[in-house]
Amino acid sequence: MEKNIRSIMEYLCRTKSFDRITFSRRREKTEPDTLRETAVLFRKQNISYVQIETRYADGKAFHRNLPAGDAAEILAGMAEHEYRQTDIHTPVGDCEIRFSKKNECHIINRIREEDGAPVLHGHDRPHRYLLDPETDAAASFLFPLGITDEHGRILDKKRPKYRQINRFLELVNDVVEELPREGTLRVLDLCCGKSYLSFAVYYYFTKMRGRTVSMTGIDRKPDVIAACNDIASSLGFSEGLSFLCMDLKEYTCTERPDLVLSLHACDTATDLVLSRGVAWGAPVILSTPCCHHELFHRMNAPSLSFMTEYSLLKQKLSDAATDALRCLWLKRNDYEVQVVELIDPEETPKNLMIRAVKRKTPYPPETHESFDREYRDACELLGCVPFLEKETV
Ligand SMILES: C[S@@+](CC[C@H](N)C(=O)[O-])C[C@H]1O[C@@H](n2cnc3c(N)ncnc32)[C@H](O)[C@@H]1O
Repeated sequence: MEKNIRSIMEYLCRTKSFDRITFSRRREKTEPDTLRETAVLFRKQNISYVQIETRYADGKAFHRNLPAGDAAEILAGMAEHEYRQTDIHTPVGDCEIRFSKKNECHIINRIREEDGAPVLHGHDRPHRYLLDPETDAAASFLFPLGITDEHGRILDKKRPKYRQINRFLELVNDVVEELPREGTLRVLDLCCGKSYLSFAVYYYFTKMRGRTVSMTGIDRKPDVIAACNDIASSLGFSEGLSFLCMDLKEYTCTERPDLVLSLHACDTATDLVLSRGVAWGAPVILSTPCCHHELFHRMNAPSLSFMTEYSLLKQKLSDAATDALRCLWLKRNDYEVQVVELIDPEETPKNLMIRAVKRKTPYPPETHESFDREYRDACELLGCVPFLEKETV
């Protein structure tokens, strides 16, 4: 493919063959400050569109949709004139466009054209998972983890876990730009259990992205941790991937992690994950909460009795309130927070991912005051202080 911004954008829009284009390091300041813009493809009534999300420093986001046929010109203009950094992710490789301080353009293009055949997007192509068990390398760790058989076929009962891990990887893929671009990446998988996620993330960064990774999984189950260390060693991963058996409360982190992950840490263990991640100054925390019990039992909210009198509704309310308070608490600690869906909600009710990215500059004081007010009001309404509040390290 030609090394020319316009032809790259024209190719991507013509073949509808990209996952995501992220524009960052804006040349001219805006008010409020623009953090980045992200373009993704979607289809509606058989027509392909490009949606561009503009994310601002005050936490707000703005969306605009363009027919894919008209988007190339606009995307090329953004990459050439508005931003110094453009990262393109496609199913057949990535491309980085970077302008130096002297305005020299550097393009590292690793997108492979597939014999001119467009890679279809939207609802008309099967979902392509990041981990493909048909390639030997991926299968090599999926088999000992019990996700595939020895031929690389996903076991039926492990399909939900396989989908969860792949979706989690896609969400990791989405925050790659927030991580250091060079050097060893420090990653923690907290409450890792059988560590499907740790192996997948380690594989993703080291084998698919060529990064050096120092990754630790932590869980308090000795047999599971011993098995994970054995698998890591048998796969030749143990130089960068190891597992510790201990209670998360006892773990001392000596070096700031770049990425803190957690998939389904039970109940208040998710609060431990978030509080530790924040205390260690992790720039990115991705956490999928599990069961919620704590607030359900401690909530004392007479004004909400029209809901709390029904146990099922009280559970839904306390689930949502627990996660919303976690988000607010993260925002009070200068994170930008999103709540995204992990997989199809019909597959599991434990389906939310809290995505928290530490801001380069703290929120302004008035924004902090408003978060504090919202937080206090919410606690007062619920009649309790959440566990997270007490869990500061
Ligand atoms: C539902 S499992 C999830 C395991 C794994 N992340 C996964 O998705 O397959 C929750 C795990 O959290 C671990 N855990 C809960 N509280 C913990 C704590 N305080 N310290 C360490 N591990 C903890 C449990 O031992 C268990 O393995």
